[in-house]
Amino acid sequence: MSEIIVAPSLLASDFANLESEVNMLNNSQADWLHLDVMDGRFVPNISFGIPVIEAIKKHAKKHMDCHLMIVEPDKYLEAFKNAGADSISVHIEACDHLHRTIAYIKELGCMAGVAVNPHTPVTTMKDVLHDLDYVCLMSVNPGFGGQKFIEHTYSKVRELRAMANEVNPDLIIQIDGGVNANNAPMLVEAGANNLVAGSFVFKSDNPAETIKNLKNCSN
Ligand code: DX5
Ligand code: ZN
Repeated sequence: MSEIIVAPSLLASDFANLESEVNMLNNSQADWLHLDVMDGRFVPNISFGIPVIEAIKKHAKKHMDCHLMIVEPDKYLEAFKNAGADSISVHIEACDHLHRTIAYIKELGCMAGVAVNPHTPVTTMKDVLHDLDYVCLMSVNPGFGGQKFIEHTYSKVRELRAMANEVNPDLIIQIDGGVNANNAPMLVEAGANNLVAGSFVFKSDNPAETIKNLKNCSN
């Protein structure tokens, strides 16, 4: 299995001190910065958007991963790319023309991901799986940090990894929501290789050390 990509979610960071939070991540073993964009329509919460991502980009030395929990994402993809996105995931539940949306993300020069809610079967991605760089499997209902991990996620990871082995062995499987040191090794064992962690990292006493432990969780 490939190296684990650790993607701390800035949603749990101190918004009044974003520069120092980003610098901490720059100096840690974090691979991706996970940026949770919420519109108050697709999810029952509003987080931050394009200007904040632009501001983060000024300091970030790592891959910027934008998780769009918004309706009509196509309207804003170019703006997120211009703000600094290296990868963009859109929700399958928010896209009527997912194939076109994925192609557009790639045309912009970003890695393309599809995020799926806990109730959405992984089989819904069967006909786009070969086009994707990553899938973001939600292990909580999107909208809030600090929620409890949904145990059924393990079987979804196994099922998705088996599907990907057939058509896209390099597919990155990202897990988002309630990730911690207890479930991380089992998620990796099931076939995940990208771990998003918000509260577990930022509420810990030593976030850089917590990131390092996630990075090495399968050793
Ligand atoms: C939830 C977001 C997650 C969230 C994860 O809607 O997509 O990325 O920030 O936070 P934790 O790790 O605290 O569950
Ligand atoms: Zn997220």
